[in-house]
Parts: sequence; C-alpha cells; structure tokens
Amino acid sequence: MAESIFIPEGADKAARYEHLIPQIASLVDTERNVVANLGNVAAAIHFTFDNLWTGFYLVEGDQLVLGPFQGPVACTRIGFGKGVCGACWQRGETIVVPDVELFPGHIACSSLSRSEIVVPGFRDGRVALVLDVDSAIVAAFDEVDAHGLERIMRLVETRLR
Ligand code: SME
Repeated sequence: MAESIFIPEGADKAARYEHLIPQIASLVDTERNVVANLGNVAAAIHFTFDNLWTGFYLVEGDQLVLGPFQGPVACTRIGFGKGVCGACWQRGETIVVPDVELFPGHIACSSLSRSEIVVPGFRDGRVALVLDVDSAIVAAFDEVDAHGLERIMRLVETRLR
C-alpha cells in the first residue's frame, strides 16, 4: 500500500481528482473493513484539497451518526431532512451549498465553515451514508467536486458489505 497520497505540485482541481481517484481505488481494494476505509478516504480527500472538514455520517435508524472524519470536532447526530446532510439523505442526491448562510436549516458545526458539499452513498438502493466536505472559503465547490466526490463514493460503496 502507498505510504501517502501523491498529487503533483501545481495540479488544478480536476487534475487532483484524476490523481486521487485511482489511489483511493487501490486503498479500498486492499482493505475490507468499513471504518478503516472511511478513515483513509476522509484523510485522502481532506489533505488533497486542504478542506476545513471532510468526513462521513452513517445512517442509523432515523438519524445520521458521525463516522470517520478529518477536521474539528463535529455534531454527532443529524435528523432525516435536517441540515445539508439530512437534506442530502432525504433527496438522495448531491447538494452543493455555495454559501452556508443562505441554506435554510444549515447546521453550523464550525463557525469557520462558509461553503459545503454533501454526497450520498447507497447500499441496496437506499442512502446508507453521506460524505460531507466543508470549506472556509465561499463557493469552494462546483460540478468538478460533485463529479469527483461521486466517483469516490462509488468506490466506497463497493466496501459497504
Ligand atoms: N453542516 C452540516 C453539519 C455537519 S458539519 O458541517 C461537519 C449540515 O448542515 O448538515
């Protein structure tokens, strides 16, 4: 297994995903444990993009419960439909929030968070977890992130059973 994720100096965002995704594929390919994989995937994304917070919330009954992450301490439980994460679970689709102050019901785990993207992951056709990424910069996330993080989530899903 690679000791760390390699991203060439000066690579733009799209190029970073192109380098990151095969390395995540080989990380999850060689490990079956879900927690181990979610931990490494969160770390790989976090340090590739220098996010404020990168992590997973897992569906448990009628709540999302905090899973492996990188970044400051975060809220541990989020209800169905609540905040950006709960809305992502409810809709079953990626949500890009350019300005968290304009998203009704946004849950501020950190006052430094200014924009956010949340991507759903599925098991047996139902949302089983979400990947939440926060930035201290307004409008940090776009279609490139949505596409890249969805590709990463497809890799994560292969290790959910
Ligand atoms: N902002 C999220 C809560 C999770 S933290 O950002 C880590 C939300 O509104 O669901």
